[in-house]
Amino acid sequence: MKIVLLGSGNVATQLAKALKAVGEEVVQVYSPNLNHAQFLANLIETKAVSDLNDLEQNADLYIISVKDDAIAAVARSLKNVNGLVVHTSGTTDINTLSSLVKNAGVFYPLQTFSKGKEISFVNIPLCIEAGNEDQLTVLTNLASKLSAKVYPLDGEKRKVLHLAAVFACNFPNHLYTLANEILNQNDLDFEIIRPLIAETADKVMSNLPENVQTGPAVRADENTLNKHMSMLTSMPGLQNIYQTLSDSIKLTLK
Ligand SMILES: NC(=O)c1ccc[n+]([C@@H]2O[C@H](COP(=O)([O-])OP(=O)(O)OC[C@H]3O[C@@H](n4cnc5c(N)ncnc54)[C@H](OP(=O)(O)O)[C@@H]3O)[C@@H](O)[C@H]2O)c1
Repeated sequence: MKIVLLGSGNVATQLAKALKAVGEEVVQVYSPNLNHAQFLANLIETKAVSDLNDLEQNADLYIISVKDDAIAAVARSLKNVNGLVVHTSGTTDINTLSSLVKNAGVFYPLQTFSKGKEISFVNIPLCIEAGNEDQLTVLTNLASKLSAKVYPLDGEKRKVLHLAAVFACNFPNHLYTLANEILNQNDLDFEIIRPLIAETADKVMSNLPENVQTGPAVRADENTLNKHMSMLTSMPGLQNIYQTLSDSIKLTLK
């Protein structure tokens, strides 16, 4: 399949490498920044463009993987193409595309991607949506070449998944950042806490998270909770987060 990839960020980079690995032909990479497009294009040995007017018009598939707020603007440049145009966003409606292009779909990979971290697509849930059965078949076939977990999913369900993903991935990662801040301020290294993070994630692979919650909030150890709160007096933002999350943990006990 001839594919144009619009975007050169975290998702586009990993998707580009995965598509090349399964023998798909990415004929162009677009980014508004030519250096970024060129960097990714070099990785997968294809062409780079930074002007939407220079996009190949005869590709089979256009994958828009830019920031959510720019999807519509990029899609406008594809109004005349006959190929299928998909985005990779969890919370953007298919209608954002179908109102602008002839054939619209969604190709949402439920995983956290970073440019510099290699990742296998084999176990990544690929959530797809399309305007008709034929288009869904095209996306199913492509997704199945990349992953063993392909889910046709409507937009409402996909949005719920994305919301849950923010709680399951983005927030914990931010909490690691805050933990690192606390450690650094006290001359302790993040390395010391990595085994704890690994075990916490490992436990929920075989248990429901509420069944393996530990710590002062779940034990109702009020003295410890109070000590932690006073240790955070000089950091009111972190104190608020500590209180909110501890209250939320207590609520799950009821
Ligand atoms: N990261 C994830 O873990 C993840 C997972 C699943 C789905 N997604 C979805 O995948 C899409 C891309 O996410 P990402 O994390 O890969 O983003 P990202 O790394 O921030 O990359 C965003 C890309 O959008 C381009 N861009 C930014 N503003 C633009 C504009 N105004 N017009 C055209 N292009 C613009 C950037 O161009 P430059 O090259 O100039 O920076 C960059 O290539 C989003 O829809 C996101 O919701 C992300």
